[in-house]
Amino acid sequence: MAELWVRGGRLVTERGAVAGDVLIRDGVFAAVGGAVGAAPGVEVLDATGMLVLPGLIDPQVHFREPGLTHKEDLQSGSLAAVAGGVTSFMEMPNTKPATIDPAALTDKLARAAGRAWCDHAFFLGATADNAEQLGEWEQLPGCAGVKVFMGSSTGDLLVPDDATLERVLRSGTRRVAVHSEDEPRLRERYAALAAGASVAQHPEIRDVTCAVRATTRLLDLVERTGRRVHLLHVSTAEEVALLRERALGSLVTAEVTPNHLFLSAPECYREHGTRVQMNPPVRDARHRDALRQGLVDGVLTCIGSDHAPHTLTEKGRPYPESPSGIPGVQTILPLLLTAVRDGWLALPDLLRVGCSGPADVYGIAGKGRLAVGYDADLVLVDPSEHGPLREEWLRSRAGYSPYVGWSLAGWPTVVLVRGEVAYREHATLGSPRGAPLHFGSA
Ligand code: DOR
Repeated sequence: MAELWVRGGRLVTERGAVAGDVLIRDGVFAAVGGAVGAAPGVEVLDATGMLVLPGLIDPQVHFREPGLTHKEDLQSGSLAAVAGGVTSFMEMPNTKPATIDPAALTDKLARAAGRAWCDHAFFLGATADNAEQLGEWEQLPGCAGVKVFMGSSTGDLLVPDDATLERVLRSGTRRVAVHSEDEPRLRERYAALAAGASVAQHPEIRDVTCAVRATTRLLDLVERTGRRVHLLHVSTAEEVALLRERALGSLVTAEVTPNHLFLSAPECYREHGTRVQMNPPVRDARHRDALRQGLVDGVLTCIGSDHAPHTLTEKGRPYPESPSGIPGVQTILPLLLTAVRDGWLALPDLLRVGCSGPADVYGIAGKGRLAVGYDADLVLVDPSEHGPLREEWLRSRAGYSPYVGWSLAGWPTVVLVRGEVAYREHATLGSPRGAPLHFGSA
């Protein structure tokens, strides 16, 4: 029996940080809190001075394999994940080829075996052609569920009209993840764009109405079909208000990216240009503040990084040919800790939005809680390490982050995946041993 005693740390709990130990046995938590009473001679991991919390779950990443591995692959993306304290990821289907059938899903799972540094699942992309089969395919092992692009973004996956979207929503039972921007309006606005446009116009091209119109259409269809959905990367104050007003309960969960919580226009475009171009766009401080409030009061259920790497050469193309997407899987936890330091997020809420929230949204089994019987995915954070984020710590193939130089409140020092150390002091340990996630009820 493999045992590890994590001793002397401060456990992050629903009641805040409390002194306590953790005993791990065979990759799961065997005892949590207080003095756990480990057997003599058991291996010890000294957590003195550290915050101890469950590994984060990132329910929205783009790791680009197959087909776009010059931007990222499953190994480099998952390495960036564990380096940031993310121990499970759910990966999006807009690869090349797109993940739109069981063969493509099987291929991704095979590529992840022995190369992914942490646990994982893959979304199937919805199309007009596969809508009726999705209900069966979403039950396949390693499938995170179905992803819908209502508006065009990177790649060519698209469900632009209500009739097709309704067919998708009526096929299957699991929660459907939705990128909600209105395709007809996007087409109009890109067509009207004058030559010489600048990335600072991005929030106007893909404007608030694009987002609100699509989300309104989606919520109408949710009411009609009773299908559960998860609204990805909410970007407007108006959608937060809409979610509150429509009060659809657990039928609708929602996610926000750290970029929409920590960056704001126009400054971010002045400072970072196309490096912070993403879909939906980062908008002004009014939206950022409403999104923070929505996250704090629970209208927004969880965080997802929408880690979307592109090379700097690609990012250097003139707008709007420059691709949309910002790498971010590695910086979720340090940014959330910074929100706690800055006083707008409570420490227990970090668990809700980064760990248990994503697990509950998708019904991920055995993950997201520091509790007996759960997988021993664990992060030790040294709160005294709050120097500026250094570029050489970044593990994504993209190699940049808008948060380089930011004084973030703590870095993951040790990261365990199912009881084994995967990352320690900016270096990997052992070999990649990520496994497919399992899903129960949600
Ligand atoms: O900015 C984005 N980039 N938004 C998306 O929806 C897709 C992503 C990507 O894959 O590059």
